[in-house]
Amino acid sequence: MEKFYITTPIYYPSDNLHIGHTYTTVAADTIARYKRMRGYDVMFLTGTDEHGQKIQRKAEEAGVSPKAYVDKIVDGVKSLWQLMHISNDRFIRTTDAQHVAAVQKIFKKLYEKGDIYKDEYEGLYCTPCESFWTEHQLVDGKCPDCGRPVEKTKEESYFFRLSKYQDRLIDLIENTDFLEPASRRNEMLNNFLRPGLADLCVSRTSFSWGIPVDFDEGHVVYVWLDALSNYISALGAFSDDESDFQKYWPADLHLMAKEIVRFHTLIWPAILMALDLPLPKKVLGHGWMLLEGGKISKSKGNVVDPVILAGKYGVDALRYYALREMPYGADSEFSNEALISRINADLANDLGNLVSRTAAMLEKYFGGTVPSARESGEFDDALIACAAQVAARTEAQLEAYNLSAALTEIWTLVGRTNKYIDETMPWALAKDETKKARLGAVLYNLAESVRVIATLISPFMPETADKIFAQLGMTVRNWADAAKWNVLPEGFTMTKGDVLFPRIDMEKELADLAAISEKKAAKKAVKSTATEQKAEIGIEDFAKCDLVVAHVLEAETIQGSDKLLKLTVDAGDGTRTVVSGIRAAYSAEEMVGKKVVLLKNLRPAKLRGIMSEGMLLCAAHDGKLSLVTIEGDLPAGSEVR
Ligand code: MSP
Repeated sequence: MEKFYITTPIYYPSDNLHIGHTYTTVAADTIARYKRMRGYDVMFLTGTDEHGQKIQRKAEEAGVSPKAYVDKIVDGVKSLWQLMHISNDRFIRTTDAQHVAAVQKIFKKLYEKGDIYKDEYEGLYCTPCESFWTEHQLVDGKCPDCGRPVEKTKEESYFFRLSKYQDRLIDLIENTDFLEPASRRNEMLNNFLRPGLADLCVSRTSFSWGIPVDFDEGHVVYVWLDALSNYISALGAFSDDESDFQKYWPADLHLMAKEIVRFHTLIWPAILMALDLPLPKKVLGHGWMLLEGGKISKSKGNVVDPVILAGKYGVDALRYYALREMPYGADSEFSNEALISRINADLANDLGNLVSRTAAMLEKYFGGTVPSARESGEFDDALIACAAQVAARTEAQLEAYNLSAALTEIWTLVGRTNKYIDETMPWALAKDETKKARLGAVLYNLAESVRVIATLISPFMPETADKIFAQLGMTVRNWADAAKWNVLPEGFTMTKGDVLFPRIDMEKELADLAAISEKKAAKKAVKSTATEQKAEIGIEDFAKCDLVVAHVLEAETIQGSDKLLKLTVDAGDGTRTVVSGIRAAYSAEEMVGKKVVLLKNLRPAKLRGIMSEGMLLCAAHDGKLSLVTIEGDLPAGSEVR
């Protein structure tokens, strides 16, 4: 049996994972499932990258040991993958004893071979990216990858002779299809390889949370050497039992997003070359899922929390959305609107209706069982040809790892099949006793098309495919059958199932999501003021607050929020809008005419889609609110000191 070894990056358990990480893992899962359906002996690996300065600092901040810190997050990662129906065969943690031992052996072997040597490192380090940079690589003095400040580091270190492999790496990237998409090749060649590779610092002494270099106390292995080795240590390389390593290595596909392509196409192959091991067959760097134009980060809140999204819309809907929206090699923008539109249009309307209509008509006209007397007719050939073509094209796109294009293909068949219903008009055939055999053929063809679609979507949406197969009474799911017709046996029965994808009320849903974000933001704000209260400030700090008297001119409630009022206030220099959370204590009518205290220079923020410019001062006790108001008739804009 031919093998197929596929990996995701091992994720940093510094925070819970978001929809971006979920995309990569779901994409890898889809490819793994497809290959299994095609009869490959698949090894699908994912895991967590647990060492390094960033994690050590996070744990310190949380006041726990690094291991205790990561253990908790790793549990969350594992249950996220379970929730998302990820079919990984293995889960590696870089804190696993087998991995630690393998990395130590790799380090020693490279040292003994002379590919690792000791020297002094002086340079710049970006802790969030765990990357070294030279002065001229910085952009505006900051890390070129993430834009955050770098730290000057000077320490005795071990170095890997990366420069020695430069020519072989240029050849690998320039002359083979090792790195896909091809557009990423130039970036590696022009930005890194052609300017010349420097040797790579591969040990650190300034922190301890890492794999110790076992022959030199005080040194821990640089996280990227540690992390990249997971792809072979997970198979037992450098352990007593290397049988899986022999069987599955080299990897057929390392999947990741573009920002870590350089580690996988420069450092990783060079390490393997130094170890005299075969190179992975392909590195695929997909684009980023963006939120409001920027790379998603956990700090952007729960709109990108896959647990919340899957809970709300279903696992398969989320899988479908992520896979469909990410074009091959390019970025995609995440939005709740797009997610809900995809669910309503592609899933509820196109696919869901097709399946439910087919089952409902079969039951209504034939009690669920297709009759053996069937008469073919107009439109059949077009449908059957479309199915065969879509099966072939979907397979070709999957072979090219272009998942979004594969789904687009499948949906042309969904659309074509819905059109077939309109063309053949089964309800009209049903009215005519003499057309029973024709009706039988139409419904058989519909069921066949549904079967083909279910087969093709299996790797993408396994749960939905299961449900459809159950309705068709089928247990065997064979990829090759997608290209065939007349697979459903004589006298098969299709049963009605639950609604596959309920329609979502877009407006209500968006309001709900905004309310959740608002609650979280409010909680955070309360937390941060509570901690700040304790710190002493100077008069110069207080002077930063531009507090003024404001006159409330208008007030109105905000639909969907029982806490907020939208106020128009005169702040002395014109009117402005302030969204204030005082509705529990004041009605809109009561607010008009009040002279209040406004923090004018608070950074504007959008609340419920309304830009709020400033904040009213309020006293609070036991959940009760009381506005700070001004006596007498001071004009709007008067300074409050
Ligand atoms: N630990 C390293 C990888 C070591 S692999 C030997 C790391 N971890 S990470 O937690 O930062 O994960 C990065 C990966 O997560 C990306 O390469 C990508 O696969 C996935 N993604 C994280 N955010 C993403 C988006 N916004 N969009 C798409 N993929 C995203 O780097």
